[in-house]
Amino acid sequence: MAPAIKYTKLFINNEWVDARSGKTFETCTPHDGTVTARIAEGDKADIDLAVSAAKAAFHRNSEWRLLDASARGRLLNKFADLIQRDTQYLAELESYDNGMLIGFAMRNVAMAENLARYNAGLADKIQGDTIPADGEVFSYTLKQPVGVCGLILPWNVPILMFAAKVTTALAAGCTVVVKPAEQSPLTALALAALLNEAGFPPGVVNVVPGFGPGAGSSLTHHPDVAKISFTGSVEVGKLIQRTAGEVNLKRVSLELGGKNPLVIMNDADLELAVRTAANGVFANQGQICLAASRLYVQSGIYDQFVQKAVDFAKNIKIGNPSDPTSRHGPQIDLEMMTKVLGYIEIGKQEGAKLMTGGDCVGDKGFYIQPAVFINVTDDMTIAKEEIFGPVQCILKFDTLEDVIDRANNTNYGLVAGIFTSNINTALQFSKHVQAGTIWVNNWLVYNVQVPFGGFKDSGLGREKGMDCVNAYLEVKTVTVAQPKKL
Ligand code: NAI
Ligand code: MG
Repeated sequence: MAPAIKYTKLFINNEWVDARSGKTFETCTPHDGTVTARIAEGDKADIDLAVSAAKAAFHRNSEWRLLDASARGRLLNKFADLIQRDTQYLAELESYDNGMLIGFAMRNVAMAENLARYNAGLADKIQGDTIPADGEVFSYTLKQPVGVCGLILPWNVPILMFAAKVTTALAAGCTVVVKPAEQSPLTALALAALLNEAGFPPGVVNVVPGFGPGAGSSLTHHPDVAKISFTGSVEVGKLIQRTAGEVNLKRVSLELGGKNPLVIMNDADLELAVRTAANGVFANQGQICLAASRLYVQSGIYDQFVQKAVDFAKNIKIGNPSDPTSRHGPQIDLEMMTKVLGYIEIGKQEGAKLMTGGDCVGDKGFYIQPAVFINVTDDMTIAKEEIFGPVQCILKFDTLEDVIDRANNTNYGLVAGIFTSNINTALQFSKHVQAGTIWVNNWLVYNVQVPFGGFKDSGLGREKGMDCVNAYLEVKTVTVAQPKKL
């Protein structure tokens, strides 16, 4: 049974309101493409209202700003409790709106709860330094919230991205305007209702669904927004960085795409490597920035590996994401399905060999069979561009030195991984590969306690971990005259 859709309006100043224009847009379920709800479509006028609510909530005498830091932590823990209470519902709604497998959605909700609790703990540990500065002075630093933050979310893991950005900004003491992705806006609205229930004061969190060029762009151009945190395409990320300097000077955090190399050495645990590599690229139908989308296999085990990888992909059970026995669901929408099928065609044309999958499944919804390409070379389009779909590209290599150079020969630098039983190989790879995360004998292990972000075009700044709040803080130096001699 379809989950109830309780919220379809904009959430501004703790109230549910229609868009000023009265416009709405459709959201559909990727399982069969049917429209499930009409959502209020925010645009510039609504962003202006949301930003002014967030600005008022950030005033030095506001209820929010007068709260103790520990009280911010307690509110975030309350939010985490409510996420925990509603785990099943949130996961069902996410799966329905986004097409992600219900099991994957449950893990995402659990992760969102963890993020809220981790950041709740950080709220009253944001502290400055006392500094032995030269001269007859006493100097110390204050770490203060940067102000109103615009948080622009992608459609691929909506609950997770909402939790990562919103709870960090709130731990820091900022106020926020969230712009969910137009393809999957429902869970951001459900989470807004939980923040309201937890007791966050009006204006602290505002959620304005809408499109990139309308609501998104209005947020990035707004003079009262101090910071933008964005997850999405490199193209829009670069645009946001440019826009951020046009009106005022916005702080920017960007988490963009990847073309992530996973290297399997001859001495790897073969069964584990095959399974992990497949899960690494097919998870969420390949729609994750962490996808293991360039799979380098050493020549000594290449043939054996390929055979096992093809068998694995052939046996992945495709089906309705709400069915817990399904192992592979639909792509988010027709546009993404068409884009992925286009890449599969280009792969064939450029001479890679398609060993299995790559066709649409059924005549409704946006399902694609997991595809495995072999004989892929570095110059092929499918080895260079982020496909964001269930396409495993297998490349052959001979030596560690060679594969490290090939792994680095890309504009991306999000994550990378290696399977080997040799510690020196693992350490050399970890030292020399340019990526924000290196996984050794694992992939997709994504914990709240460790920093996450990209080198090169994969991003700017880090989310998660102890330092994540720094992206939402300014450092202020206070220097007081103080004679040395009493
Ligand atoms: P996108 O970057 O266009 O969209 C992401 C978010 O940015 C959405 O909320 C969208 O409304 C907003 N946006 C779009 N244009 C904007 C603008 N001019 N100003 C402000 N906000 C704007 O990504 P899209 O089109 O959904 O996907 C394209 C490709 O991006 C995918 O095929 C994939 O390769 C990559 N991608 C990467 C993600 C990641 O996790 N790093 C997530 C989503 C997409
Ligand atoms: Mg786009």
